[in-house]
Amino acid sequence: MTSAKSKAMLTGVFATLLTSTALAGEVNVICSAEQPWCDLMANAFEAENPDTKVLMVRKSTGETLAQIRAEAGNPKVDVWWGGTGDPHLIAAEEDLTQPSGVDTSKLLGWAQNMHDISDGKTVGIYAGALGVAYNVDVLEDKGITPPACWKDLTDPSFAGEIQVANPNSSGTAYTELATFVQLFGEDEAYRLLAEIGKNVNSYTKSGSAPSKAAARGETGISIGFMHGMVKLASDGFPLKIVAPCEGTGYEVGAVSIIKGAKNPEEAKKWVEFALRADIQSRAPETGSFQVPSNSNAEVAEESPELSLIKLIDYDFATYGASETRKRLLARWDKEVKPASN
Ligand code: F6P
Repeated sequence: MTSAKSKAMLTGVFATLLTSTALAGEVNVICSAEQPWCDLMANAFEAENPDTKVLMVRKSTGETLAQIRAEAGNPKVDVWWGGTGDPHLIAAEEDLTQPSGVDTSKLLGWAQNMHDISDGKTVGIYAGALGVAYNVDVLEDKGITPPACWKDLTDPSFAGEIQVANPNSSGTAYTELATFVQLFGEDEAYRLLAEIGKNVNSYTKSGSAPSKAAARGETGISIGFMHGMVKLASDGFPLKIVAPCEGTGYEVGAVSIIKGAKNPEEAKKWVEFALRADIQSRAPETGSFQVPSNSNAEVAEESPELSLIKLIDYDFATYGASETRKRLLARWDKEVKPASN
Protein backbone atom coordinates (compact mmCIF):
# COMPACT_ATOMS: atom_id res chain seq x y z
CA MET A 1 0.00 0.00 0.00
CA THR A 2 1.42 3.40 -0.89
CA SER A 3 1.88 5.79 2.00
CA ALA A 4 -0.51 8.29 0.39
CA LYS A 5 -3.17 5.58 0.10
CA SER A 6 -2.69 4.29 3.69
CA LYS A 7 -2.77 7.90 4.95
CA ALA A 8 -6.05 8.44 3.14
CA MET A 9 -7.47 5.25 4.66
CA LEU A 10 -6.33 6.20 8.15
CA THR A 11 -7.89 9.61 7.76
CA GLY A 12 -11.09 7.81 6.78
CA VAL A 13 -10.95 5.61 9.90
CA PHE A 14 -10.29 8.58 12.17
CA ALA A 15 -13.04 10.57 10.51
CA THR A 16 -15.52 7.73 11.12
CA LEU A 17 -14.38 7.41 14.73
CA LEU A 18 -14.67 11.13 15.30
CA THR A 19 -18.04 11.37 13.60
CA SER A 20 -19.44 8.42 15.48
CA THR A 21 -18.18 9.81 18.83
CA ALA A 22 -19.71 13.17 18.01
CA LEU A 23 -23.04 11.65 16.97
CA ALA A 24 -23.45 9.03 19.66
CA GLY A 25 -24.95 10.70 22.70
CA GLU A 26 -25.67 8.89 25.93
CA VAL A 27 -27.80 9.30 28.98
CA ASN A 28 -27.01 7.67 32.32
CA VAL A 29 -30.17 6.72 34.15
CA ILE A 30 -30.78 5.21 37.56
CA CYS A 31 -34.12 3.46 37.50
CA SER A 32 -35.90 2.87 40.82
CA ALA A 33 -38.97 1.21 39.30
CA GLU A 34 -39.21 -2.55 38.59
CA GLN A 35 -36.68 -4.00 36.13
CA PRO A 36 -39.15 -4.84 33.30
CA TRP A 37 -40.42 -1.23 33.25
CA CYS A 38 -36.85 0.09 33.39
CA ASP A 39 -36.01 -2.07 30.36
CA LEU A 40 -39.09 -0.99 28.43
CA MET A 41 -38.27 2.69 29.04
CA ALA A 42 -34.63 2.29 27.96
CA ASN A 43 -35.59 0.39 24.79
CA ALA A 44 -38.41 2.78 23.87
CA PHE A 45 -36.17 5.83 24.39
CA GLU A 46 -33.41 4.35 22.23
CA ALA A 47 -35.93 3.46 19.52
CA GLU A 48 -37.00 7.13 19.33
CA ASN A 49 -33.49 8.50 19.73
CA PRO A 50 -31.24 6.15 17.76
CA ASP A 51 -28.16 8.34 18.33
CA THR A 52 -28.46 8.13 22.10
CA LYS A 53 -27.40 5.15 24.15
CA VAL A 54 -29.22 4.64 27.46
CA LEU A 55 -26.89 3.38 30.20
CA MET A 56 -29.12 2.25 33.02
CA VAL A 57 -28.86 0.59 36.41
CA ARG A 58 -31.70 -0.37 38.78
CA LYS A 59 -31.45 0.67 42.41
CA SER A 60 -33.85 1.19 45.29
CA THR A 61 -34.77 4.76 46.22
CA GLY A 62 -32.72 5.17 49.41
CA GLU A 63 -29.70 3.52 47.79
CA THR A 64 -29.94 5.97 44.89
CA LEU A 65 -30.10 8.96 47.22
CA ALA A 66 -26.92 7.64 48.92
CA GLN A 67 -25.18 7.28 45.54
CA ILE A 68 -26.00 10.74 44.25
CA ARG A 69 -24.93 12.25 47.57
CA ALA A 70 -21.60 10.40 47.28
CA GLU A 71 -21.12 11.59 43.69
CA ALA A 72 -22.14 15.22 44.30
CA GLY A 73 -19.72 17.51 42.45
CA ASN A 74 -18.76 14.81 39.93
CA PRO A 75 -22.02 13.07 39.04
CA LYS A 76 -21.95 9.90 36.98
CA VAL A 77 -25.73 9.85 36.69
CA ASP A 78 -27.80 12.21 34.51
CA VAL A 79 -31.34 11.23 35.44
CA TRP A 80 -33.00 9.47 38.34
CA TRP A 81 -36.27 7.99 37.12
CA GLY A 82 -38.76 6.28 39.44
CA GLY A 83 -38.70 5.60 43.14
CA THR A 84 -40.78 7.21 45.85
CA GLY A 85 -40.98 11.00 45.91
CA ASP A 86 -39.70 11.86 49.39
CA PRO A 87 -36.03 11.07 48.62
CA HIS A 88 -36.35 12.99 45.31
CA LEU A 89 -37.54 16.00 47.35
CA ILE A 90 -34.65 15.53 49.77
CA ALA A 91 -32.19 15.43 46.84
CA ALA A 92 -33.76 18.69 45.61
CA GLU A 93 -33.41 20.33 49.02
CA GLU A 94 -29.77 19.20 49.27
CA ASP A 95 -29.12 20.77 45.86
CA LEU A 96 -28.23 17.43 44.28
CA THR A 97 -30.73 17.91 41.44
CA GLN A 98 -31.59 20.76 39.10
CA PRO A 99 -34.77 22.24 37.60
CA SER A 100 -35.74 20.37 34.45
CA GLY A 101 -37.71 23.21 32.84
CA VAL A 102 -40.33 20.81 31.51
CA ASP A 103 -43.99 21.58 30.85
CA THR A 104 -46.14 20.12 33.64
CA SER A 105 -49.51 21.47 32.47
CA LYS A 106 -50.86 18.03 31.45
CA LEU A 107 -50.02 16.47 34.82
CA LEU A 108 -52.40 15.74 37.69
CA GLY A 109 -52.29 17.95 40.79
CA TRP A 110 -50.26 15.54 42.95
CA ALA A 111 -47.54 15.39 40.28
CA GLN A 112 -47.42 19.17 39.88
CA ASN A 113 -47.25 19.51 43.67
CA MET A 114 -43.88 17.70 43.66
CA HIS A 115 -42.68 20.13 41.01
CA ASP A 116 -43.90 23.13 42.99
CA ILE A 117 -42.45 22.18 46.37
CA SER A 118 -39.05 21.34 44.85
CA ASP A 119 -38.76 24.54 42.76
CA GLY A 120 -39.02 22.47 39.60
CA LYS A 121 -36.25 20.02 40.54
CA THR A 122 -38.46 16.95 40.59
CA VAL A 123 -41.84 16.02 39.16
CA GLY A 124 -44.37 13.24 39.74
CA ILE A 125 -44.63 10.35 37.29
CA TYR A 126 -46.99 7.96 39.11
CA ALA A 127 -48.82 7.34 42.40
CA GLY A 128 -49.53 4.26 44.47
CA ALA A 129 -50.99 3.39 47.87
CA LEU A 130 -49.33 1.42 50.64
CA GLY A 131 -50.96 -1.74 51.93
CA VAL A 132 -50.61 -5.19 53.42
CA ALA A 133 -50.77 -8.50 51.55
CA TYR A 134 -51.14 -11.99 52.90
CA ASN A 135 -50.71 -15.42 51.40
CA VAL A 136 -54.09 -17.11 51.81
CA ASP A 137 -52.63 -20.63 51.78
CA VAL A 138 -49.92 -19.90 54.35
CA LEU A 139 -52.30 -18.24 56.81
CA GLU A 140 -54.95 -20.93 56.34
CA ASP A 141 -52.41 -23.76 56.84
CA LYS A 142 -51.21 -22.16 60.05
CA GLY A 143 -54.68 -21.23 61.27
CA ILE A 144 -53.83 -17.51 61.47
CA THR A 145 -56.60 -14.89 61.16
CA PRO A 146 -55.68 -12.33 58.43
CA PRO A 147 -54.96 -8.75 59.54
CA ALA A 148 -57.37 -5.89 58.76
CA CYS A 149 -55.55 -2.98 60.41
CA TRP A 150 -51.95 -1.81 60.92
CA LYS A 151 -52.31 -2.41 64.65
CA ASP A 152 -53.26 -6.06 64.03
CA LEU A 153 -49.69 -6.64 62.83
CA THR A 154 -48.47 -6.38 66.44
CA ASP A 155 -50.39 -9.57 67.30
CA PRO A 156 -48.11 -12.44 68.43
CA SER A 157 -49.97 -14.80 66.06
CA PHE A 158 -47.93 -13.19 63.25
CA ALA A 159 -44.55 -14.03 64.85
CA GLY A 160 -41.98 -14.63 62.10
CA GLU A 161 -44.62 -14.07 59.39
CA ILE A 162 -44.14 -10.41 58.41
CA GLN A 163 -41.69 -9.12 55.83
CA VAL A 164 -41.07 -5.46 55.02
CA ALA A 165 -38.15 -3.48 53.59
CA ASN A 166 -35.56 -1.41 55.43
CA PRO A 167 -36.41 2.33 55.19
CA ASN A 168 -32.72 3.25 54.83
CA SER A 169 -32.51 1.57 51.42
CA SER A 170 -36.16 1.39 50.38
CA GLY A 171 -38.50 4.25 49.54
CA THR A 172 -41.47 1.96 50.13
CA ALA A 173 -40.41 1.32 53.72
CA TYR A 174 -39.68 5.01 54.29
CA THR A 175 -43.23 5.74 53.09
CA GLU A 176 -44.48 3.19 55.64
CA LEU A 177 -42.46 4.81 58.43
CA ALA A 178 -43.72 8.30 57.53
CA THR A 179 -47.29 6.94 57.25
CA PHE A 180 -47.14 5.50 60.77
CA VAL A 181 -45.83 8.79 62.17
CA GLN A 182 -48.64 10.71 60.42
CA LEU A 183 -51.34 8.24 61.51
CA PHE A 184 -50.33 7.62 65.12
CA GLY A 185 -47.97 10.44 66.18
CA GLU A 186 -44.22 9.87 66.44
CA ASP A 187 -43.81 8.09 69.77
CA GLU A 188 -46.76 5.75 69.25
CA ALA A 189 -45.57 5.05 65.69
CA TYR A 190 -42.18 3.85 66.95
CA ARG A 191 -43.78 1.81 69.70
CA LEU A 192 -46.03 0.07 67.16
CA LEU A 193 -43.22 -0.44 64.65
CA ALA A 194 -41.03 -2.02 67.33
CA GLU A 195 -43.94 -4.30 68.35
CA ILE A 196 -44.49 -5.27 64.70
CA GLY A 197 -40.72 -5.72 64.46
CA LYS A 198 -40.97 -8.66 66.85
CA ASN A 199 -43.00 -10.42 64.13
CA VAL A 200 -40.72 -9.43 61.24
CA ASN A 201 -38.59 -12.20 59.75
CA SER A 202 -36.50 -9.97 57.48
CA TYR A 203 -35.99 -6.31 56.52
CA THR A 204 -35.22 -6.46 52.80
CA LYS A 205 -33.25 -3.96 50.69
CA SER A 206 -35.91 -3.44 48.02
CA GLY A 207 -39.51 -2.49 48.69
CA SER A 208 -41.05 -4.97 46.27
CA ALA A 209 -39.17 -8.04 47.63
CA PRO A 210 -41.49 -8.76 50.61
CA SER A 211 -44.63 -9.15 48.47
CA LYS A 212 -42.73 -11.39 46.03
CA ALA A 213 -41.72 -13.54 49.02
CA ALA A 214 -45.33 -13.60 50.28
CA ALA A 215 -46.52 -14.62 46.80
CA ARG A 216 -44.12 -17.59 46.86
CA GLY A 217 -45.25 -18.53 50.37
CA GLU A 218 -41.87 -17.75 51.95
CA THR A 219 -43.54 -15.35 54.36
CA GLY A 220 -47.19 -15.06 55.39
CA ILE A 221 -47.53 -11.28 55.23
CA SER A 222 -45.88 -8.37 53.42
CA ILE A 223 -46.06 -4.60 53.65
CA GLY A 224 -45.60 -2.73 50.38
CA PHE A 225 -47.29 -0.88 47.56
CA MET A 226 -50.64 -2.29 46.48
CA HIS A 227 -49.82 -2.01 42.75
CA GLY A 228 -47.00 -4.55 43.21
CA MET A 229 -49.34 -6.87 45.12
CA VAL A 230 -52.00 -6.58 42.41
CA LYS A 231 -49.48 -7.63 39.79
CA LEU A 232 -48.55 -10.76 41.76
CA ALA A 233 -52.20 -11.63 42.43
CA SER A 234 -53.02 -11.18 38.72
CA ASP A 235 -50.12 -13.54 37.93
CA GLY A 236 -52.08 -16.17 39.89
CA PHE A 237 -50.30 -16.13 43.27
CA PRO A 238 -52.62 -16.65 46.29
CA LEU A 239 -52.24 -13.09 47.63
CA LYS A 240 -55.03 -11.02 49.21
CA ILE A 241 -54.60 -7.28 49.59
CA VAL A 242 -55.63 -5.32 52.66
CA ALA A 243 -56.20 -1.55 52.82
CA PRO A 244 -55.55 -1.05 56.56
CA CYS A 245 -58.59 0.13 58.55
CA GLU A 246 -56.83 3.16 60.08
CA GLY A 247 -56.07 4.57 56.60
CA THR A 248 -52.84 4.47 54.67
CA GLY A 249 -50.13 6.56 53.01
CA TYR A 250 -49.16 6.76 49.36
CA GLU A 251 -46.20 7.56 47.17
CA VAL A 252 -45.78 9.96 44.31
CA GLY A 253 -43.02 8.40 42.22
CA ALA A 254 -40.76 11.00 40.66
CA VAL A 255 -38.10 11.85 38.09
CA SER A 256 -35.19 14.28 38.62
CA ILE A 257 -32.20 15.56 36.66
CA ILE A 258 -28.95 15.35 38.62
CA LYS A 259 -27.16 18.64 39.23
CA GLY A 260 -24.15 18.97 36.93
CA ALA A 261 -25.41 16.14 34.68
CA LYS A 262 -22.86 15.50 31.92
CA ASN A 263 -25.64 14.99 29.34
CA PRO A 264 -28.19 17.70 30.19
CA GLU A 265 -29.97 17.78 26.82
CA GLU A 266 -30.52 14.04 26.77
CA ALA A 267 -31.56 14.18 30.43
CA LYS A 268 -34.25 16.77 29.67
CA LYS A 269 -35.40 14.70 26.69
CA TRP A 270 -35.73 11.71 29.04
CA VAL A 271 -37.90 13.66 31.50
CA GLU A 272 -40.14 14.96 28.71
CA PHE A 273 -40.40 11.42 27.36
CA ALA A 274 -41.27 10.00 30.80
CA LEU A 275 -44.08 12.52 31.27
CA ARG A 276 -45.78 11.78 27.94
CA ALA A 277 -49.21 10.14 28.04
CA ASP A 278 -48.35 7.54 25.37
CA ILE A 279 -45.20 6.49 27.23
CA GLN A 280 -46.86 6.32 30.67
CA SER A 281 -49.70 4.29 29.11
CA ARG A 282 -47.20 1.52 28.31
CA ALA A 283 -46.34 0.74 31.97
CA PRO A 284 -49.02 -2.00 32.29
CA GLU A 285 -47.27 -3.93 29.49
CA THR A 286 -44.64 -4.68 32.13
CA GLY A 287 -47.07 -5.37 34.97
CA SER A 288 -46.53 -1.91 36.50
CA PHE A 289 -49.92 -0.78 37.76
CA GLN A 290 -49.16 2.58 39.39
CA VAL A 291 -51.57 5.42 38.58
CA PRO A 292 -49.95 7.54 35.82
CA SER A 293 -49.37 11.27 36.36
CA ASN A 294 -50.28 12.48 32.87
CA SER A 295 -54.00 13.23 32.83
CA ASN A 296 -54.27 11.79 29.30
CA ALA A 297 -52.50 8.52 30.06
CA GLU A 298 -54.55 5.33 30.22
CA VAL A 299 -55.07 3.92 33.70
CA ALA A 300 -54.85 0.12 33.74
CA GLU A 301 -57.91 -1.77 34.93
CA GLU A 302 -55.68 -3.45 37.50
CA SER A 303 -54.49 -0.14 39.05
CA PRO A 304 -55.81 0.24 42.60
CA GLU A 305 -58.48 2.96 42.57
CA LEU A 306 -57.01 5.56 44.93
CA SER A 307 -60.31 7.34 45.51
CA LEU A 308 -61.73 4.15 47.05
CA ILE A 309 -58.87 3.79 49.56
CA LYS A 310 -58.83 5.67 52.87
CA LEU A 311 -55.72 7.75 52.19
CA ILE A 312 -54.07 10.11 54.64
CA ASP A 313 -53.25 13.63 53.52
CA TYR A 314 -49.57 12.69 53.16
CA ASP A 315 -47.35 15.65 54.01
CA PHE A 316 -44.68 15.52 51.29
CA ALA A 317 -43.07 18.81 52.30
CA THR A 318 -42.37 17.52 55.84
CA TYR A 319 -41.47 13.90 55.08
CA GLY A 320 -39.52 14.92 51.99
CA ALA A 321 -37.26 17.14 54.10
CA SER A 322 -33.69 16.13 54.77
CA GLU A 323 -33.81 16.78 58.51
CA THR A 324 -37.00 14.76 59.00
CA ARG A 325 -35.60 11.76 57.12
CA LYS A 326 -32.35 11.85 59.12
CA ARG A 327 -34.20 11.97 62.43
CA LEU A 328 -36.76 9.29 61.53
CA LEU A 329 -34.14 6.87 60.20
CA ALA A 330 -31.86 7.33 63.22
CA ARG A 331 -34.80 6.51 65.49
CA TRP A 332 -35.75 3.51 63.36
CA ASP A 333 -32.17 2.16 63.53
CA LYS A 334 -32.16 2.55 67.29
CA GLU A 335 -35.69 1.53 68.27
CA VAL A 336 -37.18 -0.66 65.54
CA LYS A 337 -34.41 -2.64 63.85
CA PRO A 338 -33.07 -4.20 67.07
CA ALA A 339 -36.58 -5.37 68.04
CA SER A 340 -36.80 -7.88 65.17
CA ASN A 341 -35.76 -11.48 65.76
O1 F6P B 1 -41.29 -0.23 41.13
C1 F6P B 1 -42.21 -0.57 42.05
C2 F6P B 1 -42.17 0.38 43.20
O2 F6P B 1 -43.14 -0.08 44.10
C3 F6P B 1 -42.45 1.83 42.84
O3 F6P B 1 -43.80 2.14 42.75
C4 F6P B 1 -41.73 2.56 43.91
O4 F6P B 1 -41.50 3.90 43.60
C5 F6P B 1 -40.48 1.75 44.04
O5 F6P B 1 -40.89 0.41 43.82
C6 F6P B 1 -39.81 1.86 45.37
O6 F6P B 1 -38.81 0.91 45.47
P1 F6P B 1 -37.92 0.79 46.78
O7 F6P B 1 -38.82 0.62 47.95
O8 F6P B 1 -37.10 -0.45 46.53
O9 F6P B 1 -37.10 2.01 46.88
